[in-house]
Amino acid sequence: MLNGVNLGGLGTRRPEVYGTLTLGDIYGLLSEEFPDVEFEFRQTDYEGEMIGFIRDGGAADGVVINPGAWTHYAYALHDALEAVSVPKVEVHLSNVHGREEWRRRSVISPAVDAVVAGMGARGYVAAVRYVLESSPER
Ligand code: DQA
Repeated sequence: MLNGVNLGGLGTRRPEVYGTLTLGDIYGLLSEEFPDVEFEFRQTDYEGEMIGFIRDGGAADGVVINPGAWTHYAYALHDALEAVSVPKVEVHLSNVHGREEWRRRSVISPAVDAVVAGMGARGYVAAVRYVLESSPER
């Protein structure tokens, strides 16, 4: 469960757009919703660090990532995700298609299996469900 740039500020960062839950609250919700899942929750504001996290995700059952603003321009994240062959979901709390023009483009989407946007924290739940239903041993 990877959250990128500025997502550590959830709760107080533009609550009218991103909601009032902190990242910790969202992680709590996920742990409650999926008690049998062993999550690795990570957040960073450093792109190179996120690339390491994505590589580590290759050893997990799946990767759920909200890349924040990197979504719109970070080709290096695209390439890192492309190299990882587990189920991958891109999540956005807000409906990026209903906002500024520049948010409509994701350079990440071609490297993932599914995209969720505009469902708030419930988008993360949907993404985890997708990963669980995609993994062969479940
Ligand atoms: C976001 C949408 C991005 O455009 C923005 O830069 C973010 C959060 C979302 O979750 O809605 O930081 O990824």
